[in-house]
Amino acid sequence: MVYGIISDIHGNLEALQKVIGFLKGKIDKLIVIGDVVGYGPNPNECLELLYNENPEFTLGNHEEGILKGDLSNFSEDARISLEWTISNLSPENFEKIKRWPEKIEKGDILFLHASPSNPTKGYILSQSQAKRAFQALEKRLCFNGHTHFPICFRKKQKEEKVEVIPCDFSGSLKVKIEENYIYMINVGSVGQPRDGFPFACAGIYDDEKKIFELFRIEYPVEITKEKILEKGLPSSLAGRLLRGL
Ligand SMILES: [Fe+2]
Ligand SMILES: [Fe+2]
Repeated sequence: MVYGIISDIHGNLEALQKVIGFLKGKIDKLIVIGDVVGYGPNPNECLELLYNENPEFTLGNHEEGILKGDLSNFSEDARISLEWTISNLSPENFEKIKRWPEKIEKGDILFLHASPSNPTKGYILSQSQAKRAFQALEKRLCFNGHTHFPICFRKKQKEEKVEVIPCDFSGSLKVKIEENYIYMINVGSVGQPRDGFPFACAGIYDDEKKIFELFRIEYPVEITKEKILEKGLPSSLAGRLLRGL
């Protein structure tokens, strides 16, 4: 089985269109691990485009915020954009989000938005955070997102030390899954990368070859930027797309 794994689309239709086009014909199953909405100007269009691909979804903290109606833990930009999203999300899409689980398990693989111990909201940015997260991981391989920062953490099954496999100079990543290690791989963000590379992230995992690759896809970011401004969303959300930060 070859999985396409994407996260943190955040209503960025231009980025998502390019990523879907890139994945076409390369994967057997698309897994979308949360934060399809929030920040960006096209939440409904992104959900509709994704549902055409017959994917499986997990819940992100942005969807969770919408469903619970509690935005108190979000930053100001996130809260303003989520209030706008709540006003603009179609009733059909609201109903669809309600059905998303927090986790998907496929054999020895776990898919979720944030962290094994806190599936929608935990942050794994450092080796010490990864060390704690590994303690809650019961699978050999976990794919997550949420930080918008693609990276791979791994450790040997019976050892404590956590190793980092970073992206290369172009923001891409290739990881061979080895028998005696367990892994947490963050697939980055489609619609709002924060690792200094403004290109969209698209992950592919080949479960037979045991190889994960993260690709970076250029998209017409100026169009998304203009839409953010037109819809009256915070201008800082437009600026950060250009910088990838
Ligand atoms: Fe996100
Ligand atoms: Fe998130």
